[in-house]
Amino acid sequence: MDTTTTTTTTPTTATAAAAKRTTGRRLVLLPSPFQGHLNPMLQLANILHSKGFSITILHTRFNSPNPTNYPHFIFVPIPASGEEKHSFSDMGNVIRFMHYINIDLLGPIHECLERLMSENDGVACFITDAHWFGTQSVADCLKLPRIVHRTSNISSFRAFAVPQLLRDMGCFQRSSDEEMKLEALVPGLEPLKVKDLPKFQTNDPESACNMLELMVQGTKGARAVIWNTFKDLEEHELVALGQDFPSPHFLIGPFHKYFPASSSSLLAQDQTSLSWLDQHPPKSVLYVSFGSLVRIEESQFLEIAWGLSNSKQPFLWVVRPGSIKGSEWLELLPNGFLERIVKGIGYIVKWAPQQDVLAHPAIGGFWTHNGWNSTLESICEGVPMISSPSFGDQLPISRYVSDVWKIGVKLENGFERGEIESAIRRVMVDEEGLEFRNKIANISEKVNLCLKKGGSSYSSLEDLVNYILSFP
Ligand code: UDX
Repeated sequence: MDTTTTTTTTPTTATAAAAKRTTGRRLVLLPSPFQGHLNPMLQLANILHSKGFSITILHTRFNSPNPTNYPHFIFVPIPASGEEKHSFSDMGNVIRFMHYINIDLLGPIHECLERLMSENDGVACFITDAHWFGTQSVADCLKLPRIVHRTSNISSFRAFAVPQLLRDMGCFQRSSDEEMKLEALVPGLEPLKVKDLPKFQTNDPESACNMLELMVQGTKGARAVIWNTFKDLEEHELVALGQDFPSPHFLIGPFHKYFPASSSSLLAQDQTSLSWLDQHPPKSVLYVSFGSLVRIEESQFLEIAWGLSNSKQPFLWVVRPGSIKGSEWLELLPNGFLERIVKGIGYIVKWAPQQDVLAHPAIGGFWTHNGWNSTLESICEGVPMISSPSFGDQLPISRYVSDVWKIGVKLENGFERGEIESAIRRVMVDEEGLEFRNKIANISEKVNLCLKKGGSSYSSLEDLVNYILSFP
């Protein structure tokens, strides 16, 4: 077994102000080791540090965050033997990963926490990603208050929080589209349709349903829940959620707006994206990215390429290496495609500085998978969306984007070049695009207000700090 090593560095001047206002209390934060989970957890850590808490990040060695980007935190890797690479590529892998972190790693986590609690400043509170539902038993055993951080939003969580309903709707079986009645509205979760529910189709539906049940219980059993969202966007959903989850909910997002874009990226961000955008007029470029986990088929990749090219709108396209099944990067593009099309109107990178890209004046639309971070980043910059959800929370989020917030177009039939071209024109060229832009500008204005003194997220953060300080 590896021995635990601790990385500490001297606090920077940027954090000196916070250090002066220290609460004398230490928080231990445990992120899930995926990009879409690491980003918000490290942003949350920065927010709480600015409120005077000392921060320890407990993390897996797999996809471990880079401590040099956070000299004001202490990083503690969880000692574990034979830690393997994990992916969310299919349900079997998800179940294996959940089993690994919630059973195999509990012993080492218990040891780490016990040691940290015995140190000078002790531990005031343990904040974990909702993926670590098994850690509630460790926290209970150590009499340590645990708070859950949900990296996605409330609307999509409501679609996960009903395992029995999902089972009844056929989300755990391998059923045909006709059997599932995909277009039917889901009772109690309208406007979600059956096709917007998260699917866990596997040969082992019992394990998948059980895992989801444990995750829901792991959130319910925590002292409180922290959300990277804001009240104006999800007030109705918060009220509905509160009926089944009565513990305190702190809506303090959007996290990434508290500080300049931070560096928790696991991949190198191609800064030439920004200089390429500099050459384009305002709101003329479509940004295309499907996040850090989605993988697509070769046929879908080609439909995307032709849809982009046929739309004749400038585009910045993130093609993450390995995201197209059966290929390394761009080699499946038709002969001459790059030379003919991309040289004229498009630019392809492996990974972009997304927050800066979305804030760039040249961006007029975002074709996204609707991961929650991407969706929130787009909302904050007032960029209307085209939605191509792939799995999990992306499906309900995309329904809210198109049908509730009305800030984008959903591709209802997967990747089909004609529908893609039409959606791009609707968002980038047509009058409808202006309507989306006005609606989203309205919401992003509310973001600015909620973070100001007296605003909902500002007040909720104050409440969270006081709540944590009330722990013995
Ligand atoms: C995963 C799930 O897929 C998502 O549904 C869930 O809400 C969070 O966990 P991911 O697919 O990576 O996340 O999507 P998303 O939540 O959008 O997070 C991606 C993050 O990577 C964003 O913060 C985005 O700014 C960043 N990113 C993305 C880059 O920095 N560069 C890129 O080129 C693309």
